[in-house]
Amino acid sequence: MKTYDKFLDYYEEVVRWINSPLEDEVFFLKEDCIVEYNPDAKNILELACGTWAVAKEFIKAGYEVTGLDINENMLAKATKNIWKENIVLWDMTNFDLWKKFDVVLCNYNSICHLLTWVEWQSFFEMAYKHLEVGWILVFDINTLFEFESITRDFAQFYTFWDDVVCLEMFKKPSHFEWLIKIFSHKKDSEFELITEVVKENSFPISKIEKELKAKWFKLLEKVDYHYGQVSAESERVYFIWQKILGIS
Ligand SMILES: C[S@@+](CC[C@H](N)C(=O)[O-])C[C@H]1O[C@@H](n2cnc3c(N)ncnc32)[C@H](O)[C@@H]1O
Repeated sequence: MKTYDKFLDYYEEVVRWINSPLEDEVFFLKEDCIVEYNPDAKNILELACGTWAVAKEFIKAGYEVTGLDINENMLAKATKNIWKENIVLWDMTNFDLWKKFDVVLCNYNSICHLLTWVEWQSFFEMAYKHLEVGWILVFDINTLFEFESITRDFAQFYTFWDDVVCLEMFKKPSHFEWLIKIFSHKKDSEFELITEVVKENSFPISKIEKELKAKWFKLLEKVDYHYGQVSAESERVYFIWQKILGIS
């Protein structure tokens, strides 16, 4: 069982519409990240592309997109409308597409699904390997501040048809865990309880910057997705990096 398998039926509604409207995020990614820093970009590698929600919008806008994700069920949703060769089932910490891209994109805090710093380092290496020199890596994180705040918050409830979805986050010694409870309506007042745990992690912004700067990338911009200016209380931060050295 992979991350989001049980939550999949509700995933797009909760993640892509209620929490972060797709059109706002695609506009931001396209105009403020790609057009601003790599206006000549034509092909995008989207890591952790999930159900292809973002990729679909970039294809409509004329880009070529290759998507990679570790969960075949997320990709099964994605492949309904697209050519399968543009979609790859692989782990973003260890893959080789034998091709370089103008943009490597990993959004909606997908990198936070990697639980260890070693995996984050491997992710950066993979991004480096698949980028042309001078071109850009765009990814976002949920900050440690955000995860700590969510653990203190009340549970979030969403109602879909007759079903109810409840999301809570807990802090564990080395990571954070979403506990997703789905109360699936059967008949009358009968519900089936389905639970799923999604593990996530984050690291200090300073550690991420140090790692990428010391090795292979130049920071072009970091943005608080909600408020613009990054602060100690930023919840979601986007980074735009440029590959500067041809060492791969
Ligand atoms: C929050 S979803 C984001 C999906 C998509 N980027 C979007 O904006 O809707 C996170 C995705 O990361 C994928 N994922 C988690 N760990 C992964 C890994 N090691 N390699 C590739 N994909 C991974 C999950 O399967 C899931 O589809």
